[in-house]
Amino acid sequence: MKISATSALVLNWTDHKLWQSPETLSFNSQLDLSEGEQLFNLFSEEETFMHLQAVSGRKYFMKNTVLAFLEELSKQNQSGQVIILAAGLAPLSIEIASTFSTCQVFDVDKYLMNEKHELVNGIPPNIEFIDCDITDLNALKEKLLNRNFKMDMPSIAVMEGIIYYLPMEDLKNILQFLKQNNVAFAGDFCLKPELVNEKTRFYLSDVFRKIKDEVQLDFINFYSEEEIINLLKEAGYKKICVSNMQQIQEDRTGDKYPFSEKDSCWVMTIYAE
Ligand SMILES: C[S@@+](CC[C@H](N)C(=O)[O-])C[C@H]1O[C@@H](n2cnc3c(N)ncnc32)[C@H](O)[C@@H]1O
Repeated sequence: MKISATSALVLNWTDHKLWQSPETLSFNSQLDLSEGEQLFNLFSEEETFMHLQAVSGRKYFMKNTVLAFLEELSKQNQSGQVIILAAGLAPLSIEIASTFSTCQVFDVDKYLMNEKHELVNGIPPNIEFIDCDITDLNALKEKLLNRNFKMDMPSIAVMEGIIYYLPMEDLKNILQFLKQNNVAFAGDFCLKPELVNEKTRFYLSDVFRKIKDEVQLDFINFYSEEEIINLLKEAGYKKICVSNMQQIQEDRTGDKYPFSEKDSCWVMTIYAE
């Protein structure tokens, strides 16, 4: 299946070692990334290296955070649910659902959910594909309940690669909705360019300029760490952990490089409960 240029770009910028389950490898092998070639070729080898590190880091964080959440529950003989908001064609749901067969995963996006459902084809069986605009929270709640989402079961939501495309008011409402329903949160956001080290700031401004030209976006929302923490607090989250990519890079590769200097990575991760 051919996929859009920006989705293909992100899938190209992922360390393949992240995906381990045979189900995920089989899903990935069906994706045709050629649609993204023109956009991909706009980046130099050095830029490609830097974006591969940043995107792989955020994906490593999402996968490990969700798996740790589910492992903790399984130690207490409980199962959990995972909602992936703006999931796109990324394989995170497949990796999680095939690793934790007792967990129910809900992939939500306003595009391509039927196509993804067909590609996955019941392997693994514990993923629901929901066609929904994630800013329409009444519709989201109704659709989750229709697919047997259990309000009283421990749950975590993932918002990866989406916060910068949402108006702040929508992000506020989504966080409030999740917290009201007792859902833990994992996500990423991009720092305001002026908060990124001058040596690497270029990678951030340049990637969004190129993507903006490709998909004609009106705006991109960047945040400071403080602004994101305030939004989470306003939503009612109490335990909030915002991290830069240094520790994640070291855990993932054994070295902080190329994010050895303070504020050198523009992608930040969030865990809140
Ligand atoms: C950059 S992709 C990220 C996909 C995936 N989460 C990842 O990190 O690889 C952004 C996704 O957000 C989806 N999206 C954007 N706005 C949305 C909205 N309001 N409701 C649902 N999905 C949305 C797009 O369709 C696209 O699949």
